[in-house]
Amino acid sequence: GFVRPALRTREQRLNPFPWYRACLSQGTVLRDETSQSWDVFGYEEAQFVLKNHAHFSSQRTVDGQNVLGNYAPSILNLDPPRHTQLRRLINLAFTPKAIASFQPRIETITHNLLDAMKQETQGKSTEVDLVAALAYPLPVIVIAEMLGVPPEDRDKFKRWSDLLVEGPSDLRPETIMDLMTRRAAGRKELDEYFRNIVQLHRGKDDGTLISALISAQIENESLSLEELLSFCVLLLAAGNETTTNLIVNAWRCLLEHPEAFAMLRENPGLIDGVIEETLRYYSPVQATSRIVTEDIEVGGQKFSKGDRAVVWLGAANRDSRIFENPDTFIPTRSPNHHMAFGHGIHFCLGAPLAKLEAKIAILAMLSQIDEVSAVPTDLTPIISGFVYGVKSFPIQVTWAL
Ligand code: HEM
Repeated sequence: GFVRPALRTREQRLNPFPWYRACLSQGTVLRDETSQSWDVFGYEEAQFVLKNHAHFSSQRTVDGQNVLGNYAPSILNLDPPRHTQLRRLINLAFTPKAIASFQPRIETITHNLLDAMKQETQGKSTEVDLVAALAYPLPVIVIAEMLGVPPEDRDKFKRWSDLLVEGPSDLRPETIMDLMTRRAAGRKELDEYFRNIVQLHRGKDDGTLISALISAQIENESLSLEELLSFCVLLLAAGNETTTNLIVNAWRCLLEHPEAFAMLRENPGLIDGVIEETLRYYSPVQATSRIVTEDIEVGGQKFSKGDRAVVWLGAANRDSRIFENPDTFIPTRSPNHHMAFGHGIHFCLGAPLAKLEAKIAILAMLSQIDEVSAVPTDLTPIISGFVYGVKSFPIQVTWAL
């Protein structure tokens, strides 16, 4: 049977991989009649869809966007030519150099968070929630500082970004309406919040991402205020929860695979491989979608204009045609061309930043921990149609003296 994500049980959310395997054995592309859409599971097929942006539009109606009001679409939901223009403008501010220059700050923030964890535990072995203590605050503080918003506001950010990725817990109309209403209210608050922040930075060349975005110009084109606000909201939604989940998912992988963990302890140079393999094995973003603009065949199936195609990155990343032993966690896997950050023109803008944060967070923990284990407990999955992670991850740590 074919079960759509919104209907999945807790176990299926924590472990959707047997479901992908079962689907992939039926076909790389399957029709889901309940949601009237196509599910793309195969790696080649997923790449074909994401590469072919003329036939597969990103101007999709995101769940409930109709009740969110008239906001400018962000780059994530735009097609060329506007996507190309905006992405070029944003690239002016979001350069690899700008990200690399943030490395010392990321290290300091990480060490401050670890110190706070240790202080609470007074150096003894104790239980901490990795999400609350490190994996959540780190990316929020980083993006807040990059943008130029006060880090004190991060609890509000948490509430807003949670809302932006939250999916309905069941499909009753009142549950969906309730979520839509809360989301619309959250989006409105966020919009007002960023309007104020933009006012504070306008006309100042103060080194923040916001001031760089305000002044970014190519051929007399710049971002409109509405586009800038939508981009800020996207950074918050796309950048926080995903990076939190990368850090936590990496620790889940390491603690579930003691031999991999031992290898990393022996040789911290393996960290990049651990992160790439986590991205493939426990992809923080499991799916994205497109709208078919013209009839086209994919994986032997005929897609019609107007159809929705859900691209299962998490399934493509376990396609045995591409990855040998796809259900095994192998940090030394090479090549490892996973699609965790998407593919083509919408390839994740924040990939280098997310990887840098995860690398710093994991290495800093490794250097300060004597022993670490997962606390045996029932993990609670995040309820979302596309994000993969857990709400909290309790670990038992003994700090190195
Ligand atoms: C796009 C994943 C972190 C900003 C994407 C896409 C994926 C993705 C799959 C493409 C979606 C599509 O084609 O429909 C991830 C993962 C992350 C992560 C797995 C962490 C592990 C970040 C961070 C930022 C960010 C830290 C920014 C600070 C963006 C933006 C786009 C994007 C702006 C849209 C790019 C475009 O449309 O041209 N991300 N992301 N992401 N991501 Fe990320």
